[in-house]
Amino acid sequence: MFTHQPVMINETIKNLVHDPAGTYLDCTFGLGGHSKKILENLNDDGRLIAIDRDKETVSYSQKIKDKRFHFKNLNFSKIESLDTRLDGVFFDLGNSSMQLDDPERGFSFQKDGPLDMRMNKEEEITAEQWINTATEKEISDVLFHLGEERKSRFYARKIVESRKKTKFKSTAQLSLFIEKYSSSQKRHPATNVFRAIRMHINNEIEEMINGFKSAACLLKQNGKLIIISFHSIEDRIAKNFLRSEEAKNLNLKKQGKPIKPTINEIKSNPRSRSAIMRIAIKNV
Ligand SMILES: C[S@@+](CC[C@H](N)C(=O)[O-])C[C@H]1O[C@@H](n2cnc3c(N)ncnc32)[C@H](O)[C@@H]1O
Repeated sequence: MFTHQPVMINETIKNLVHDPAGTYLDCTFGLGGHSKKILENLNDDGRLIAIDRDKETVSYSQKIKDKRFHFKNLNFSKIESLDTRLDGVFFDLGNSSMQLDDPERGFSFQKDGPLDMRMNKEEEITAEQWINTATEKEISDVLFHLGEERKSRFYARKIVESRKKTKFKSTAQLSLFIEKYSSSQKRHPATNVFRAIRMHINNEIEEMINGFKSAACLLKQNGKLIIISFHSIEDRIAKNFLRSEEAKNLNLKKQGKPIKPTINEIKSNPRSRSAIMRIAIKNV
């Protein structure tokens, strides 16, 4: 059983649930932390739809016995298929604790497991398949663009050299390999590399761009869009979308300044430390 403390929960409710009788969409159900709190703040007429691309979240969704709640195993790039007008849409980006804490999912450089990293295990390519077959240029581009990794070219060259002798199979193997060539003292040296591969395997940039755009289309007048991101690339995609012509044409206006977790929240839940919440409103 995995535990999870939902990030910026009070800020989410305060900014998202402006009408307790409204219809809301949680695009990143995970272990349902935010969904449960949203339900608590709706009245009998309110409705919550939650989705997640990870099939393993289905069993967690089934624990919520509430007729106002509906769950679907779906990618958020596909929410237009829900064909429902919404009063609020919520994104809590990245991995859930269930994904990070289970070594078998292959997301963590701190726990040994297979190099998998698929958020939905039915998707085709695992991190192992990708890292053992991609070209040096492709690996370097992914590490640079999705990991902002300064040594992207060097690591790509070393990975391609090394896999000729031994294929990469496990998270510990890749993590130790990066550590061997790094002098970084601040963070774990494999942080950027793991994040870049995860974002590539799960096609996260396209998911976000399509998800945000579809959310803006589905919102009703005065509907709210809330996005919590956890690192600079995610936040940049959110920020750029909210400033874009496309958002303007969809009558989406950013609201207020980005919000960060309180010091107390960071103390009690260190995973929240890099969170940034951005808010927008649909105003026709
Ligand atoms: C940070 S967790 C959400 C945690 C959740 N708010 C809670 O309180 O338990 C992010 C979740 O979003 C899901 N996810 C990530 N990208 C997705 C996408 N493109 N479509 C649907 N779900 C996605 C992941 O599978 C993961 O379960």
